[in-house]
Amino acid sequence: MTSFRINGRPVTVDTDGQTPLLWVIRDEVGLKGTKFGCGIGMCGACTVHVGGRPTRSCVTQLRAVEGADITTIEGLDPQGQHPVQRVWREIQVPQCGYCQSGQIMQAAAMLKDFPDPSDADIDAVMTGNLCRCMTYSRIREAIKQAAREMAENKA
Ligand code: FES
Ligand code: FES
Repeated sequence: MTSFRINGRPVTVDTDGQTPLLWVIRDEVGLKGTKFGCGIGMCGACTVHVGGRPTRSCVTQLRAVEGADITTIEGLDPQGQHPVQRVWREIQVPQCGYCQSGQIMQAAAMLKDFPDPSDADIDAVMTGNLCRCMTYSRIREAIKQAAREMAENKA
């Protein structure tokens, strides 16, 4: 048995501890917003927060999250109103959308470490989140705008 909290909800699963967290999130907990891209930690589509840090759930074994607090795209804000999500919609960042939950989770975590990110900061942190639709310039614009709005809300 492995127990953890996901989006604030306690969950216990009776699953092999070597199972990738991504499978557990999608198939056992039933949250489908986190996507499978490469399965080898190279694309970022499966990014969730574990203990507040961006984590590739496809290469994280279930046993590694015993007792952890996990947040998925569904729990980033219950109403979808996290500043990153609001700006993402405003700028219409997504194209096909497949990579975007991972992009948003990575960006939301990044803004905790870089509240006023430069282009170089964004490129360095977001480089592992691939987008086959090439939405990179809108992602960069959205992260900067979200940073500005978060700073204004704090002031
Ligand atoms: S599916 Fe996890 S990094 Fe690509
Ligand atoms: S929006 Fe299509 S893969 Fe990124």
